[in-house]
Amino acid sequence: MSTTNILVMNGPNLSRLGKREPEIYGSRTLEDINRELDGAFPEIKFGFFQSEEEGELLQKLFEIEDHGGWSGVVLNAGALTHYSIALRDAISAVKIPVVEVHLSNIYAREEFRRKSVISEVCVGVVSGFGADSYHLGVRGLMGIIGW
Ligand code: DQA
Repeated sequence: MSTTNILVMNGPNLSRLGKREPEIYGSRTLEDINRELDGAFPEIKFGFFQSEEEGELLQKLFEIEDHGGWSGVVLNAGALTHYSIALRDAISAVKIPVVEVHLSNIYAREEFRRKSVISEVCVGVVSGFGADSYHLGVRGLMGIIGW
């Protein structure tokens, strides 16, 4: 069986997990979350990418699309979720399935967070389960890619 490669992509401010508003986002760092994913899904080869820059996230999506060999993306776009039409268009432009994930339940928070401009072009959304959102996102993606 060929390897399943999944890219776990995180946008602005997610590098600050562990220190950043732990009452909302939990005490795990992004490194903890990534390590736990590796441990939980030994059959999957993960790539991990985080950037504070919108353009770098777009470029990464195009890079993996052009390179080939990637089965899907689990994406926490952070605040870009709520306003980045550029990110939405990039997700729409690639064939790779993208699952939107959030640590917090964006629908139970401030008004401006209740709208995601990327959900419509993602294959699914997981929001509100803390670090487990990433695990659930991977599970969902595995179903979609027929693993
Ligand atoms: C977030 C929710 C966003 O509203 C926020 O801007 C983030 C994190 C989450 O994981 O809950 O940076 O995506």
